[in-house]
Amino acid sequence: MLDLNFRNKNGVLHIGGVSVESLAYKYKTPLYVYDQKLLKKTAEAFKENFKSNQFNTEIVYATKAFSNLYVLGLLNTYGFSFDCVSYGEMSVCLKAGIRAENIHFHGNNKTYDELSFAVDHHVGLIIIDSSDEYSLLNEILTDKKKQVDVLLRINPDVKTDTHQFIQTSNADSKFGVNIRDDNTKKLIKNLIENENMNLLGFHAHIGSQVKDLSFFEEEAKVMIQFTKKIQEEFSYRFTSLNLGGGFGCKENFDDDDLDLERLLRNYISIIESLVDDYGLDLTDIGIEPGRSMVGMSGSTLYRVGSIKKTLQGHPIVFVDGGMSDNIRVSLYDAKYSAFIANKMDCDKKKKYRVGGKLCESGDFLIKEEELAIPERDDLLLIPFSGAYTYAMSSNYNKLVRPAVVFVEDGKDFLAVKRQDIEHLIENDLYYKQDV
Ligand code: LLP
Repeated sequence: MLDLNFRNKNGVLHIGGVSVESLAYKYKTPLYVYDQKLLKKTAEAFKENFKSNQFNTEIVYATKAFSNLYVLGLLNTYGFSFDCVSYGEMSVCLKAGIRAENIHFHGNNKTYDELSFAVDHHVGLIIIDSSDEYSLLNEILTDKKKQVDVLLRINPDVKTDTHQFIQTSNADSKFGVNIRDDNTKKLIKNLIENENMNLLGFHAHIGSQVKDLSFFEEEAKVMIQFTKKIQEEFSYRFTSLNLGGGFGCKENFDDDDLDLERLLRNYISIIESLVDDYGLDLTDIGIEPGRSMVGMSGSTLYRVGSIKKTLQGHPIVFVDGGMSDNIRVSLYDAKYSAFIANKMDCDKKKKYRVGGKLCESGDFLIKEEELAIPERDDLLLIPFSGAYTYAMSSNYNKLVRPAVVFVEDGKDFLAVKRQDIEHLIENDLYYKQDV
């Protein structure tokens, strides 16, 4: 089982053996704190449980969930590949020491410059999203007299029960080409016949924060059936299938514990049986976890400021961050938990709303939480907030982006420095009245 390395020592939370008080003092708040041991165990769990004797398995980390030189360097030691959707994500991976051949380039609107960059740097795989993109890439490859391996992103029309904004598999989705669209076959034919592109197989991604394996099972079945059908129709052998990411991750204390290791073992054996049943000769099966790799091990640490009650009688405790470091609550109605990390032994509790300090009425981190009576300068911690928080952070209201620190066995490792005021104006130019 994958568990957080949280300990209560004399009423003060210690993560990875380091007290949150010392972290807050050393790095200031808000602060993203990652439990490095748990992250390593999670990476190991992917490597050890999603493997097969029938084919090679590939874990492709979706860097959009959380990317910086430190975490990419750490995950690179597990032999993963890396999913990137922009020039920026590819560049940061390369700077982190990731080999270009281990980069998979995704995205629904890759630009001419981004595709050229990917081709020039020999990224391992480009995932074609549309006919239009196919033509653009073909033009670039013809000009450069180069060839690339590609997958085609298929929208398998497998609906999930996740938040509308993070569903990607329905007839109106902007991602990939729909499995039921007549034009999809024409594109596959073009790809098969194209000398510049080596079509290895298909890719699908049904959505994010999907907790029930049955959705992934349905996806695997649809995609394996489809691969078989197309293979026969075009007398062409596919070698690869990537089933995307989307595995759910615990977000609050009321969420059920998700047994990631078991889910991965069950999933691979379902895939093995399906590949067998359909008599496919696939050599490579990939998945692309983002959230499930980093979500659980990351927490956000805040300092308590004002406390007030609305006229309607709701007590609110305000912290020194908010939607600028975690926009997921206002955007997807995400439900996190919180506790006062320096009052772990305090039994007297009351319900509070946790609000941020930004100028937005929707700037709340938690609608209601039972907390040890908070006072100014207490430390409030939101666990399980390691995915898509730092990644989607902003400088709204000119708040600086917090630092990111990893902790393990009593040691702390700074991964990203806290921004300072100079960062807020580094690209600004002064107005000059006399021009
Ligand atoms: N592969 C593809 C092609 C994707 O589009 C995504 C996520 C992933 C893999 C990784 O999915 P994950 O394992 O992390 O669920 N900002 C949203 C999540 C957007 C996910 C976008 N694509 C959130 O905070 O919930």
